[in-house]
Amino acid sequence: MKKLFALCLTVLLFGACQNTIEQEFQKEAPFKPFEPPVPYETALAKAESILGQMSLEEKIAMIGGYNMFFTKGYDKYGIASIQFADATQGVRLTDGIIELDKSVAFPAPIALTSTWNTDLARAYAESIGEECRAGGIAVLLGPGMNMYRISQNGRNFEYFGEDPYLAARMIENYVVGLQNTQTIATLKHFIANNSDFRRRRSNSVVSERALHEIYMPAFEAGVDAGAMAVMTSFNLVNGEYSPQSKYVVGKLLRRDLGFQWLVMSDWVSIWDAEKALKSGLDLDMPGEDVNCSFCPEGHDKFLRGQAPSLVKEGKVQEADIDPMVKHILTTIIAMGLTGRQVKDTSYLNNYDKHVEVALETARQGIVLLKNENETLPFRAKEGDVILLTGKYATKLARGGGSAYVEGFDVITILDALRAQFGENVKHTESPTDEEIADASIVIYSAGTNDTEGRDISFDLPEDMNKTISRIAKLNDKTVVVMNAGGGRNMSSWNNDAAAVLYCWYPGQVGNKALAEIIAGVTNPSGKLPITIERRFEDSPGYPYLPAGEELHPAALEYDFGMDHPVFDVNYHEGVFAGYRWYEHKNIQPLYAFGHGLSYTTFEYSDLKTDSRNYNTGDDVLVKVDVTNTGQVAGKEIVQLYVRDLEAAVERPAKELKDFEKVHLKAGEKKTVYFTLKKRDFAFWDEDTSSWKVEAGEFEIQIGASSADIRLKERIYVN
Ligand code: BGC
Repeated sequence: MKKLFALCLTVLLFGACQNTIEQEFQKEAPFKPFEPPVPYETALAKAESILGQMSLEEKIAMIGGYNMFFTKGYDKYGIASIQFADATQGVRLTDGIIELDKSVAFPAPIALTSTWNTDLARAYAESIGEECRAGGIAVLLGPGMNMYRISQNGRNFEYFGEDPYLAARMIENYVVGLQNTQTIATLKHFIANNSDFRRRRSNSVVSERALHEIYMPAFEAGVDAGAMAVMTSFNLVNGEYSPQSKYVVGKLLRRDLGFQWLVMSDWVSIWDAEKALKSGLDLDMPGEDVNCSFCPEGHDKFLRGQAPSLVKEGKVQEADIDPMVKHILTTIIAMGLTGRQVKDTSYLNNYDKHVEVALETARQGIVLLKNENETLPFRAKEGDVILLTGKYATKLARGGGSAYVEGFDVITILDALRAQFGENVKHTESPTDEEIADASIVIYSAGTNDTEGRDISFDLPEDMNKTISRIAKLNDKTVVVMNAGGGRNMSSWNNDAAAVLYCWYPGQVGNKALAEIIAGVTNPSGKLPITIERRFEDSPGYPYLPAGEELHPAALEYDFGMDHPVFDVNYHEGVFAGYRWYEHKNIQPLYAFGHGLSYTTFEYSDLKTDSRNYNTGDDVLVKVDVTNTGQVAGKEIVQLYVRDLEAAVERPAKELKDFEKVHLKAGEKKTVYFTLKKRDFAFWDEDTSSWKVEAGEFEIQIGASSADIRLKERIYVN
C-alpha cells in the first residue's frame, strides 16, 4: 500500500513537472500559406474544360506574351489578357504600358532583408500589391530572390542576401503579403543566376547539394507559401539554358519543389524552341520578336513563332503544348482573374500608408556597422557644423535596370539632414581641409550605381577611397554613409572612419530614416544579410570572370553578346556560401553576416532546450533571455545557428536556422522562443536525393551575429 502511494506520488510529481516544462517553452505557430480564391482542383477542372474546346492555333497563341508585358486573352472562354509589371521594390512605370501616374520607390529588397522583420516583408509586399491593383497589374515580376554569392553581382540589391534561411522567411511573407491583394507573385530567376556578367553566356556549374541547401530554399519557401508564378533565369545551369532545361524546370522546380502553377521565361532567353516546349516551361516572354539590333542568330526562336512548324514536322506534339496552356489557365482562374476587374483605383488612397511602410523599412534596414567613441547619435548644439559631402548628397542613390522605380517626392540626404538639423547643415561638393577639420561632424555619402545587365566592382572608385581617407584623417568624427546594392571594399579607410552606416538603396523616403538615425531619434536595428569581405579575392565566388576578361559597362552588346563563347562559373565552394565560407576557410571578413550595432547594448542569458535527447523529427524547443542593458529602447535580432558536430559529409560550422527581432525598453528583459524542425538539422544527401538527418550531437548557438555567438547548448538527436 505504502509502495503504491509512493509510486502515485512519483507519477503525479512527474506529470506536474512535465507540464511545467511544456509551459516553460512556447511553440512557434506554423506558417499559413496563401490560399487562392478558387481552389486548385476547381481551377484545374475549369482549365481542362476550356483546353478541351481550344484549337491547336489558339493554344499556341497562348504560350508567348504580347507587347512585352501581356498574355493572350480569349473573350469566348472568359479568359482576360493579363498584365505583368516589374518588380520587387515597387512598380516600375514602363512608358505607355503601366496605367499609373506614380508608384512608391521602396528601399531595395536587400535593405528589407536587413530589417530581419518578416512582418515588414509582408507589409512591404502588400503595399506593392495594392499599387499593382491600382494600375490593373495582375502579375508582379517579383520577388527577385537569387542568393548573394558574390559582392560584384550587379543585381544583389534586388535580392534577399546570402543566407537561405533568412531569405526564405522574408520571401514567404513577401509572397503572402503580395498575393493577399490578389496580385500574383513571380519567384525569379530560377536558378543559379548569381552574377550578371554576360548573363546570357554564363553556365553555372553547381552541385545538387548546393542547389538544395543554398540556392533553392528561398524558392521552396516561396512555392510553399503559395506563389503562383516562377520566372526562369538567363544563364545555363550545368550545361543547359534554364528555360529549356528539363532538369531545371521539370525536375528541380516541378518535381523537387512541387510547383504546379505558371512558369515563364525571362525576357528573350530561349534559344532552342523544341527543348523549351518540352522542358516544363509554360510561357515564353516577351514571346514575340523584339526589335533588338544586337540580337543574335537564334533570337527568332520564340515559341509562338516556332511551335507550328515544330508540330508539323512531328518534333513537338500537341500533348507537349497542352500542359503549358493548362498551367496558364489554371493560374489565371485560381487567382480569380476571370470575370474580375483587376484595376481598382480605390487603392490609390493607400499611398500614404505605403510611404510609411517604405520609411519604416529604411528605419529598420539601415545598418550601423561601426561607431567609435559614440560618434553617433549626434545631438547638434547651436553653432555646430554638420558638413555633408560626397556623391549622393543631393541625388538619390538607386538601383537600375528592370527593378528601377522612380518614386515621387524623393528625399535626398541633404533634404533629410536639413529637415532634421536645420541650419547646422552645410553642403559642399569639394570641401577644403580647413572646412573638414573645423566641422563638428562630417557626413560623407559614398556609393555605387548597381544595375542589371552588368556586374560592379567590389572596389570603390579610387578617388572616392582617397577622399574618404583624407576626410577621415582630418576629422575624427567622419561618418561614411554607404549606398550600394551589396558589399563594397571599405578596407582602405574603415579604420579611420569614426562611423559607417550601410544604407543600401533607401528608396524615396529612406534618407529621412538616415537623418533620424544620425540624430538618435531612431535607434538603428538593421543587421547585415551578407558578409562584407576585406578583399574580393577572399570571397567564395572568386574568381568567376573568364580568364583575361574584365567587368564591362551595362550595354546591350554585352548583355546579349551571343557571339561570346559560353563560359563556366564554377560554384567550387559548394554549400560553403556566405559566412559558411569564411568560417570554413578561417578568413576574417571586414563585417560578418548578422552584424549591426545599436545605440544600446543587449545581454543574453539562460539558454535552454526542452530536452537533451531527441528522436529524429521531434521539435526542438529553445528559449533564451535577452536584456536591454543600455539607456535607450532598441531592437535586437537574436540569431540561432545550428552546428552538426558529427557528420558523414562536410557541414558548415554554423547555419542560421531561426531568428527573432525583439523590441526592448531600456532595462527590459524578454524571453525569446524558437522551434527547430527536422529540416533544421538536415543536409541534402546526393546519394538518395533527399534530406537526411544523421543521428548524433548538434550544437545550438545563440548569437548577436554569425561572429558573435553568446551562448551554446548541445543536444543529441537519435
Ligand atoms: C529581367 C527580369 C525582368 C524582365 C522584364 C529582364 O531583363 O531579368 O527580371 O522581370 O526583364 O522586365
